[in-house]
Amino acid sequence: MKIEGVHYRSIELNSDGWSVRIFDQRKLPWELVHVHLTEARQAARAISEMWTRGAPLLAAVGAYGLCLALRDDASDENLEHAYDILLATRPTAINLRWALDEVASAAKQFQGDARVKAAYKRAGEICDEDVEINRNIGLNGLPLLRKMSKDKGGATLNILTHCNAGWLATVDYGTITAPIYMAHDAGIDIHVWVDETRPRNQGALLTAYELQQHGVPHSVISDNAGGHLMQNGKVDLCLLGTDRVTRNGDVCNKIGTYLKALAAHDNNVPFYIALPYPTIDYSMESGDLIPIENRDGREVTHMVGRCEKGKLQEFQITLSSASNPAFDVTPARLITGYITERGIIEKVCDNQEFMKMAK
Ligand code: MRU
Repeated sequence: MKIEGVHYRSIELNSDGWSVRIFDQRKLPWELVHVHLTEARQAARAISEMWTRGAPLLAAVGAYGLCLALRDDASDENLEHAYDILLATRPTAINLRWALDEVASAAKQFQGDARVKAAYKRAGEICDEDVEINRNIGLNGLPLLRKMSKDKGGATLNILTHCNAGWLATVDYGTITAPIYMAHDAGIDIHVWVDETRPRNQGALLTAYELQQHGVPHSVISDNAGGHLMQNGKVDLCLLGTDRVTRNGDVCNKIGTYLKALAAHDNNVPFYIALPYPTIDYSMESGDLIPIENRDGREVTHMVGRCEKGKLQEFQITLSSASNPAFDVTPARLITGYITERGIIEKVCDNQEFMKMAK
């Protein structure tokens, strides 16, 4: 990813070889600030307080969080303790557990310094794999966008997205943005409708920022506008990310995804999910079993924005208290297809079929 022409990854190992830096995403797009993580507790805080976010990036930060814990104390007890603390930070995205399991099992084969080395090696691989996965999601999604654009005679292809499944949610490229950036770079005329994504506004703040940095035409819309745009033929394709896909193909993603899928279904708009394999929960049968994170109601009752003098300020927008479920589940029957790093899985009719293709 490039910001003002400079290439970054969303998480990077510092030159000291052990501490890691991430962006403080709470400050974007207003300020680009790096935070340096030097201990596991800090990594856990960064995840639960949303300095960092997005399923694949949670995996990378969790993985390095475990490395930092082992660097302090490489004992079995500390490994388990840090694993539990990091896992408890956010319950919904399966990628976090996947990455913690990967690092823990690599580490458990060794003791002492060799254990720390093995953990860092696996964490580094997880980051590199994420980049490669997203690049391949891009390559597999590109022909779909190319075909849809051709079917429209080259007229602008309007894509609707929700939340942020871009490079800020991954190590690089993003899942949904990989094919979008590739298509834009290939000269395909694309315009993205960006759902603002209340309550935290990941669309308006993060996705819009990314698209702007890459020069992709886009418009931020209120979360309630998508259905209207679909009814009026202004959306050709919905392309969204996911935090967990279960064995039957149900998709858990940012709250509001389900409503977009219903509107897309009613208006025959294709609804695709960009799906990297660490986001598949092979142990869970269906979406109703996924733990849905309930976050602080303050995220709903208050909003942060820039005031006219340029300062960031928090505003209260209601006198009432709020409920804040952060994710919802879209049943497999509403999904047109899953763009994975191995290819596109078109509409699934039963779980066996999805699992066969997702393996
Ligand atoms: O609460 P967040 O901001 O971590 O939620 C992120 C999302 O829902 C993303 O759309 C999802 O993680 C896919 S990221 C490739």
